Amino acid sequence: MFEKRLRQKLALQKEKGLYRNPPVVEEGDSRTVTVDGRTLINFASNDYLALGRSETLRKKAADAFLRYGTSSSSSRLVSGNASVIREAEKAYAAYFGYEEAIFFPSGYQANLAILSTLFGPDESLFFDKHVHASTVKGMQLGSAPFKGFRHNSMSHLEKRLKSAPGNSVVVTESLFSMDGDTPPLAALAELKKKYGFLTVVDEAHAYGALGTGGRGIARNVADVALGTFGKAMGLFGAFVLLPSLYREYLFNFASPLIYTTALPEAHAITALAVLSEVEQANDKRAHLAHLSRYLTQLLTDRGFTVCGEAHILAVQIGNEERAHDLVTKLFEQGYFAFTARFPTVPMGQAIIRLSLTAHHTEDDLQKFSDALFNLGS
Ligand SMILES: Cc1ncc(COP(=O)(O)O)c(C=O)c1O
Repeated sequence: MFEKRLRQKLALQKEKGLYRNPPVVEEGDSRTVTVDGRTLINFASNDYLALGRSETLRKKAADAFLRYGTSSSSSRLVSGNASVIREAEKAYAAYFGYEEAIFFPSGYQANLAILSTLFGPDESLFFDKHVHASTVKGMQLGSAPFKGFRHNSMSHLEKRLKSAPGNSVVVTESLFSMDGDTPPLAALAELKKKYGFLTVVDEAHAYGALGTGGRGIARNVADVALGTFGKAMGLFGAFVLLPSLYREYLFNFASPLIYTTALPEAHAITALAVLSEVEQANDKRAHLAHLSRYLTQLLTDRGFTVCGEAHILAVQIGNEERAHDLVTKLFEQGYFAFTARFPTVPMGQAIIRLSLTAHHTEDDLQKFSDALFNLGS
């Protein structure tokens, strides 16, 4: 009976064009992937600064693992609270301009921890309806009431704020992971001044790649910010930037932090090296911004509707099966792209999500847009 239900649900996913079966990648970097012995141009990597295969970082990480070993062996709350992790957290807090920082094994866990732990029945959470699944799950696990506002709509947010005077918390992202757009941050700052709410901003896709020195774009509105190491920072794990009181509270009450094995010390040593790579990456950030404008123009000239203001671009397709079909054909022609379908995006609004990295070239983009045009016309 149980297995029958699993089979039925999987068959239904196939019928709806929502079935997921990612190909096995034999090797790859931020620009290419090899699948079944074929090398394809990769538009699905979040390694925006192409640091994930950097010689300097790989050596640093290898040395750190040799020196410190491969495991932290326990939770931060038991014996995993190593001095090098603390040192790295302080360096991250200072670099990004926050009082404190705390590392997590993943951004997913970090969002669960922040949203399920910090806020309770006395606070009202208002979240942009396009926030990441981990943020939604965090709110569902917590005890604070939560309500969505229309994507990037400050007027809808204001309506929500008026309906719940008191301790409000606004939850949003600085660069949305699927749409590639940014909220109107100046307008959000105005609302913050007027209503005095707290703001939690997920900067997972911005840190490293956007802002002065890669410091993201939401410092003037965020009270708590989340960054992941697994995207532009070229590593794995995550960091939360926050006031020290909130850090102390998470250490005492956040189940996703208390009951998980800490990242190893070698991670913290590598994270310090990442920070100096990020600081020196102005040329890469400028190249990324150029590529984004270039590809947007190419695709728009060919009649596609493209959303996105930086290194994530979303080509609007609509029908789930059509999006899947296009991506499959692109794959056959040597391009690895990702289609975001329901429930990642709303039903009937499937997109082809393109991530750009510092290793892409104008030639890659030109050839890709020709291929998509020939398939889409
Ligand atoms: C906006 C956003 N927040 C959080 C996460 C989770 O981060 P991690 O991959 O480190 O778990 C992701 C994606 O993975 C994301 O896109």
